[in-house]
Amino acid sequence: MRAVDIIIKKRERDELTREEIDFFVRDFTAGAIPDYQVSSWAMAVLLNGMTDRETKDLTMAMAHSGDVLDFSHLVDIVVDKHSTGGVGDKTSLFVLPTVAACGLPVGKMSGRGLGFTGGTLDKLESIPGYRVNLSMQEFEKQLKEIGIVLTGQSAELAPADAKLYALRDVTGTVPSIPLIASSIMCKKIAGGAHAMVLDVKTGTGAFMQTLEDARKLAQAMSAIGKLAGREVRTVISDMNQPLGEAVGNVLEVREALDALRGGGPADFREHGLHMSAEMLVLGKKAADFAEGRSMAEKAIADGSAFDKFRQLVRAQGGDVSYVDDPDKMAKASMVEVVPATKSGWIQQVHAGEVGEAAVSLGAGRAKKGDPVDHAVGFIIHRKVGDRIEAGQPLFTIHANNAAVKPEVQARVAAAHVISDEPVPPLPLFYE
Ligand code: URA
Repeated sequence: MRAVDIIIKKRERDELTREEIDFFVRDFTAGAIPDYQVSSWAMAVLLNGMTDRETKDLTMAMAHSGDVLDFSHLVDIVVDKHSTGGVGDKTSLFVLPTVAACGLPVGKMSGRGLGFTGGTLDKLESIPGYRVNLSMQEFEKQLKEIGIVLTGQSAELAPADAKLYALRDVTGTVPSIPLIASSIMCKKIAGGAHAMVLDVKTGTGAFMQTLEDARKLAQAMSAIGKLAGREVRTVISDMNQPLGEAVGNVLEVREALDALRGGGPADFREHGLHMSAEMLVLGKKAADFAEGRSMAEKAIADGSAFDKFRQLVRAQGGDVSYVDDPDKMAKASMVEVVPATKSGWIQQVHAGEVGEAAVSLGAGRAKKGDPVDHAVGFIIHRKVGDRIEAGQPLFTIHANNAAVKPEVQARVAAAHVISDEPVPPLPLFYE
């Protein structure tokens, strides 16, 4: 088999066989196919697409290019969740302790922030001492003992994807539905998931800007799940405005703790309860969505979800006194409430702009490996559709860098559009 023949076949819109896909993935992972041929192939896939069967074969080949984890000796049904990324998306911090408190063990390997989307590991590191580098032995022991793990990737999962993604990033081949779907799904499958809830975000602060694209991605991932024998439930949720009110690491952890204590913003709580219910159904802990939902609500109301989060923090070396007294967490040196300059109804809170502004404050990274400033970010006080009067708080900025603060503040102010006419609220879920 020759790489060039596989490229030509895709260029001519023919369907690749499983053997051809296996060969291509195996050899490019081993470095036997040069980057220019892999890039050319990726462009052919971007332009000509892949069938569901090809996408599934690509997913499985990439999933098996490194370690494939198996926790079936510890958990009957390994259920994972994945969000395609957004602004203010601290869902895992709420959902995982909630479902674990309902008796569904969850061990999750999360990532760091990328671009304007935040990452769970950065948020958790706001809690002093919290370790995100558990060994595989520690991971398994903790999953068995307390039924919850939230850490970084320790095993070498899907190295083919890491290699292909790095090339896609610099060759204009990221926005291909089969390549994105296989990239996400191969990591879930390599991580040992039997079933997964996929939260596909759409809007100005998401990867998929339109509902149509979000739907295509959700369908592609469901098709892979079906062909690969994994149960997949997908939701398409809004990311035109930030989820909840907090954007920034410490601020988001504090909001998640509020929600685990039964408070927090209504949209964030609602989103988290919905995702928890989906996971409980997939994990066969609840017979249906309504039962899953009431189990999740009970775990919040009786404090068991909050207690599970404390257990998680303690097990991973974090200082639990910060969970009990979030006021101890890092604070920014400049905290300023910015008022609305006119009265009306909130028409837009551009999530992408708020996310970019948070990165400029230091909450995220301009490039891989940069440090993050955990204390900085925003509290966005109003949601689309809300009435606001001139002078009332629009958002609060938490900044440490006086040089960038004025520009960032102006950017977030401009991300808000206030209309003279009433505006309907945005839905939380589209599908
Ligand atoms: N996230 C991934 O893991 N892969 C992609 O290709 C896009 C988003």
